Amino acid sequence: MTGGSRGIGRAIAEALLRKGFRVAIASRNPEEAAEALKREGLPVLALKSDLEADDPAGLVEEAHRALGGLHALVHAAAVNVRKPALELSYEEWRRVLYLHLDVAFLLAQAAAPRMAEAGWGRILFLGSVTTFTGGGPVPIPAYTTAKTALLGLTRALAKEWAPLGIRVNLLCPGYVETEFTLPVRQNPELYGPITARIPLGRWAKPEEIARVAVALCGEEAEYLTGQAVVVDGGFLAY
Ligand SMILES: NC(=O)c1ccc[n+]([C@@H]2O[C@H](COP(=O)([O-])OP(=O)(O)OC[C@H]3O[C@@H](n4cnc5c(N)ncnc54)[C@H](OP(=O)(O)O)[C@@H]3O)[C@@H](O)[C@H]2O)c1
Repeated sequence: MTGGSRGIGRAIAEALLRKGFRVAIASRNPEEAAEALKREGLPVLALKSDLEADDPAGLVEEAHRALGGLHALVHAAAVNVRKPALELSYEEWRRVLYLHLDVAFLLAQAAAPRMAEAGWGRILFLGSVTTFTGGGPVPIPAYTTAKTALLGLTRALAKEWAPLGIRVNLLCPGYVETEFTLPVRQNPELYGPITARIPLGRWAKPEEIARVAVALCGEEAEYLTGQAVVVDGGFLAY
């Protein structure tokens, strides 16, 4: 899985390990998280990789070799540029689109043949409530576009790979307490109105997203594919 060093990805890695999965976490700095998990008795493989520079297919091969198989892929690495469209450079646009969307496709394309060999696979991309909303109170046009496009990719791959035993889903969290959202949480003008719009009245803990992710990576998802699974405390129902 990508983005396992902190935030939602880290919580998913831990939940998968506790469920008995063998897990490789790939990020630029995975060592600290890996050491902490090992101290908890959860042996995890750390793969140091900058996905903005390294070949995603090579990473999948490395994970497959090191783990001795590949049954589930989770793409949770994240970058964001919070700027209005008129101020966003093409490089910034491409950076966000590349990590969220292009890397998702390239990882899945490399993983699917391995999963097909076993006749069983789970692919889980991370969407967001912005998959459906057109963004939040701060303009994030590239991020919003990537998260919406991921729904198209999820559906297309789910259809194409269903006969191979591979289920492809998009997990869409609402607002979650991670480093990613720190600039928003530290701004009372943003934090207050967002929190007030969440029917459950609070932001999610990463573990609450991870619990659903584990089900989507397991037998529980046998009849579940091509779906956006929203875990948002009711945000979209507002
Ligand atoms: N937090 C939320 O409220 C929220 C809501 C909806 C959706 N999401 C989505 O959930 C996913 C996880 O978000 P998060 O909040 O957990 O983010 P986060 O706490 O900022 O963690 C981001 C992860 O991505 C990794 N990463 C960033 N750039 C990378 C790169 N170039 N190569 C490899 N790994 C890289 C980071 O590891 P290193 O620094 O070690 O590289 C880290 O593990 C993302 O897809 C995000 O869009 C989050």
